[in-house]
Amino acid sequence: MPTEIPSSIADAPAADPPAGPAPCPAAAQQRRRHARGSLVSRALRRVAAIVRKRVYQVAEEILIEKVITESENAIREKRIHVVPLRSDHLDELLAFSARHGDGAAQRIREYVRIGYGGYLGYQDAELVGYLFYCGATCGGVTHPHVERYQFELGQDGAYVFEIYLAPPFRGGGRARELVARCFARMAELGYRRLSGFVYASNMPARILHAMLGWRETRRVVSRRVLSRWLICDGVVYVRNRPASRPHGFDYRRVFGRRATR
Ligand SMILES: CC(C)(COP(=O)(O)OP(=O)(O)OC[C@H]1O[C@@H](n2cnc3c(N)ncnc32)[C@H](O)[C@@H]1OP(=O)(O)O)[C@@H](O)C(=O)NCCC(=O)NCCS
Repeated sequence: MPTEIPSSIADAPAADPPAGPAPCPAAAQQRRRHARGSLVSRALRRVAAIVRKRVYQVAEEILIEKVITESENAIREKRIHVVPLRSDHLDELLAFSARHGDGAAQRIREYVRIGYGGYLGYQDAELVGYLFYCGATCGGVTHPHVERYQFELGQDGAYVFEIYLAPPFRGGGRARELVARCFARMAELGYRRLSGFVYASNMPARILHAMLGWRETRRVVSRRVLSRWLICDGVVYVRNRPASRPHGFDYRRVFGRRATR
C-alpha cells in the first residue's frame, strides 16, 4: 500500500543535498591496498589450483571388498538390463564416451583390447553406463591395481573398476540397479569375492558402494607429481606412455618395495 507523505515534509522547500564526507586520503589508500590484496590472493588461489591440478595432487583411496550375495538378484526395479561386453561393442562405447564426456575413451579402448570383462547397462535400447572387471575368466590378463593394492583374487575373486552411469540417468537408484545386475551376472560366472577402490572425495560412489554392501578394508594416500609420478604405499610409479603395452592407461613400478600386509 503506498504511504502518503506528510504535508509538512512534502511542502518543505528542497534542501541542498547533504555534503558527503570529505574525501579521506587514508581511506582511499586503504581501498587501493584492499583491491591489490584481493588481486594477489586471487592470483595465489589460482596458482594453488594449478599446483593442485598439475603439479602435486594428494588423494585418499579407500580399498573395499564385498561378497556377492543372493540379494543382488532381489533388486525390484526393472529399468536397467545389462549385456556382457564384447569387442564389437567398442564403437558404441566410444560414441557413448564422447557424448557424455566421461574422459575414459583411451582407457576403454585399452580395456576392450586387453580383454577385461565388463557389462554395458541399457535403459530400453539406450546405453546408459558400464562396469569393468578383471578375474579368472579374463584369459589371464591382470590389472595394475591388483598388484598396487595387493588384492588377492584367486579363482573366485574379481577386481571391479570403472563403474560409470551417464549424468542424465544419475540419482533415483539406477546406479545401484546397474551394478547389482552386473554382480548377479558375475556370480553366474563363478565370482564370489569382489575387490575395488573408491576415492574418499567421491561421495556418490562411496554411498553407492555402501548401499551395495561393500566393506572398507584399508585406506591408502596416493600422491601424484606433475601428472607423471605416483607415490603410493612407499612405492614410486611412473605413468606409462599411452601407446605402451599392456597398460598404457596406468603406471608401472619404478622403485620401492611394498611391505607385505
Ligand atoms: C558413482 C555413480 C555411478 C553413482 O551414480 P549416481 O546415480 O550418482 O548414484 P545416486 O545418485 O543413486 O547416488 C547414490 C546415493 O548417494 C547419494 N548422494 C549422491 N551424491 C551425494 C552427495 N554429494 N552427498 C551425499 N549423498 C549423495 C544419493 O542421494 C543416493 O542415495 P539414494 O539412492 O538413497 O538417494 C555416478 O555418480 C558416476 O557414474 N560417477 C562418475 C564415475 C565414478 O565416479 N565412478 C565411481 C568409481 S568407484
